[in-house]
Amino acid sequence: MINFERIKKEPLKQDWIKLAENIDENDFRQALDYAVKVVENNLEKFTEKFPSSGGMNGEYRPTNNADPFLYSDWTSSFWTGMIWLCYELTGDEKYKKVGLIHSKSFRERYENNDILDHHDIGFLYILSCVAAYKATGDEFSKETALLAAKKLASRFRDKAGIIQVRGLLEDTTHECTGEYIIDCCLNIPLLYWAAEVTGDKKYYDMAYSHITNVADYMVKDDASTHQNFRKDIVTGEPIEGWTGQGDGNKDGCWARGQAWAIYGLPISYTYTGDSALLEVAKRVSNYFLNRLQSDNCPNWDFLYKSDDDQRDTSAACVAACGMLELAKQLPLYDEDRKVYEAAAKVLIHDLIKNYMYTPEESKTAVLKAGVYAFKLDLCVNEPVIWGDYYFMEALIRLLHYFRMYW
Ligand code: GLY
Repeated sequence: MINFERIKKEPLKQDWIKLAENIDENDFRQALDYAVKVVENNLEKFTEKFPSSGGMNGEYRPTNNADPFLYSDWTSSFWTGMIWLCYELTGDEKYKKVGLIHSKSFRERYENNDILDHHDIGFLYILSCVAAYKATGDEFSKETALLAAKKLASRFRDKAGIIQVRGLLEDTTHECTGEYIIDCCLNIPLLYWAAEVTGDKKYYDMAYSHITNVADYMVKDDASTHQNFRKDIVTGEPIEGWTGQGDGNKDGCWARGQAWAIYGLPISYTYTGDSALLEVAKRVSNYFLNRLQSDNCPNWDFLYKSDDDQRDTSAACVAACGMLELAKQLPLYDEDRKVYEAAAKVLIHDLIKNYMYTPEESKTAVLKAGVYAFKLDLCVNEPVIWGDYYFMEALIRLLHYFRMYW
């Protein structure tokens, strides 16, 4: 049982409902139209090739599906996901055609085991093959996604009850032995989905055990999060948490890691019905919302508190999708529902105002000012492809209905 009461629920510093009051929905409509146009313009260039994980001067470069280039190992499916969103919005067969070409590419990647010995198989196969199956009923995509789910399940450490981030399970001296990371909250939906499709409960049990370990050990008492945590693989005992991709300072909190929790917790609720997950999601959301800058966008790590520090727009997009899912899952009588919905609206609206490329700039990317890895100086203040994907997903959630891929 998850003990959510140990986690602080900060009162919110802003009245999000009031802030959202005068937002004009047309701004969302125009932004979504623009994003669709960007996808349409990029479609030919990125049919056989995929956009790089991050941009350079606002431009994605063509890479292979599995490309170690610029740490693209987990990111190729975000572009495929954008294509499926465009198909669902427009019904235009040209998107379906490219989306299904990508299913073949992801199958080939699976068969060659091409940079797949890591936990991010979830991101890769949910937005490609699961999305393809949900949008079209394509059996080949479903079969491929199930193969990927089986591979993801093979990373489950029984005693620790987690999906190990990297390193093969038989290699017990690997530096990542017993380690799991918060990003994986968005990988485990592949396991829940596989449980539903196959009726095999072991997938569900693994995913539920993993998210319980996120809530119990990665979410700190003040509702901030560690990105990484290690458990003893023999005894299952917790060892230590840290934040590799954030500043690393113990008082810091990596904004995107916090956002992965904000979205991952309510997703796991949709499959498990464990309402403690929603309570934890509220607390990590409040922590996030109380530390935004004056443009309602987070700095890349909450240790940095000045408006002059570097934002990560992709963290805002992931968090907005998470808060919209959280609002959708909360009971109707819960007064927080409207707050999270309003907050997500404000976050996305401020991104539109401050961080979208314009048609005149004519870029392959949609959104400026993402960060991949600040300390590695990797795509800092550049677009990142997952930011563009979650921005589109949030806009679709705000304007229409999002068929859950996760
Ligand atoms: N490793 C996933 C991320 O950068 O958020």
